[in-house]
Amino acid sequence: MNAVLGLATSLLDGTLTEEQRHAVMTIHDSGDSLLRILNDILDYSKLEAGKLEFENVIFAPATLAEAARSILGPRAAAKRITFVVNTAGDVPEAVLGDVGRLRQVVLNLVSNAVKFTDAGTVTIETTLLAREGGMATLRWRISDTGIGIAADKLSELFVEFVQADGSINRRFGGSGLGLAISKRIVEQMGGAIAVESTVGVGSAFSFQVKLPLAVAAVSHARTLGPDAAERLRAFIAGLGRSLRVLVAEDNPTNQFVLRQMLKGFDIRLDMAADGAEAVTAAEREVHDAICMDMQMPEVDGLTATRIIRAHGGRLATVPIIALTGNAFDEDERACADAGMDAFIAKPINKNLLLSTLLRLCEAHIAEPVGGD
Ligand SMILES: Nc1ncnc2c1ncn2[C@@H]1O[C@H](COP(=O)(O)OP(=O)(O)OP(=O)(O)O)[C@@H](O)[C@H]1O
Ligand SMILES: [Mg+2]
Repeated sequence: MNAVLGLATSLLDGTLTEEQRHAVMTIHDSGDSLLRILNDILDYSKLEAGKLEFENVIFAPATLAEAARSILGPRAAAKRITFVVNTAGDVPEAVLGDVGRLRQVVLNLVSNAVKFTDAGTVTIETTLLAREGGMATLRWRISDTGIGIAADKLSELFVEFVQADGSINRRFGGSGLGLAISKRIVEQMGGAIAVESTVGVGSAFSFQVKLPLAVAAVSHARTLGPDAAERLRAFIAGLGRSLRVLVAEDNPTNQFVLRQMLKGFDIRLDMAADGAEAVTAAEREVHDAICMDMQMPEVDGLTATRIIRAHGGRLATVPIIALTGNAFDEDERACADAGMDAFIAKPINKNLLLSTLLRLCEAHIAEPVGGD
């Protein structure tokens, strides 16, 4: 999937005939759907097995609706649907919880709302239901003016692989997993999810979870945003030289994908085909960042990172980004333990790669670098 999506994205950046563009967009969109189904099935089986671990990180509840707006707003705009985000004034600045999983639930509900609405409005409301004993009960309500759901179907919707009727898959696609996954995530967090709907009028899905209040953290540099490419370009221009990036990746297809993704930037790309080569290249040349595949023959990414870090000097702090097909929490932890600064799961999202490079290089180059 890394190759399919990565290369399709790169091709779309280039010059194509109308027909080719259409074909590549179809490849990209089909790959994207397939990836979603794969991820859903993987999530669902982990939830079934009780193997999904929840993270506890500080986050601002208001950012979930904002994330949904930035990811799905364009899709709503294309259908001329108004997108409304309403966050109550008393929603706390910071709580503790699994922001990634909560965002997944909001995105599932909002993508359904956009998918099943032809005209009108999709609204995301975030409210505080209660605040006591250091805990906040928060509610997200996603309402739409779409096709609605028949009363006798409402109770089955949260069952896996159920769609309201046989025509849904033909008309809208999807596999009927989104709501089943959302329900399990919310319930395993100790919360509840509910639906109200009227055929032809619209639907409202809401869920609530109780989370510990937290002290607002220093806001993390925004990692996502459609303008990552522009910002990275501006940053490199400000440097007055090429950005030097070392990529350690043994798979030639993945090397090609990365080359394509970074092609439009003033980046001097060094390629290393395994961990040992990466260590040698990192010692020999000064790099602004290193992208490190985890699984490589002989010396893997974790070992190579430990060797590089052990050198000290500039190699103690050069930003290292893990690129990996193993997108499990324990892998992310192993990367952090080895001294890596960021973790990107394959298939690599170009925007995430660019914004991560930008964020780490900005922070790193701003530090005074000791000579070596
Ligand atoms: N906002 C909504 N308006 C109308 N019908 C909805 C809405 N949300 C969900 N449904 C109905 O509930 C069914 C199940 O939703 P669910 O998100 O689980 O599956 P899906 O969207 O069909 O597929 P998937 O999410 O796996 O891509 C949908 O197929 C649709 O019939
Ligand atoms: Mg869905």
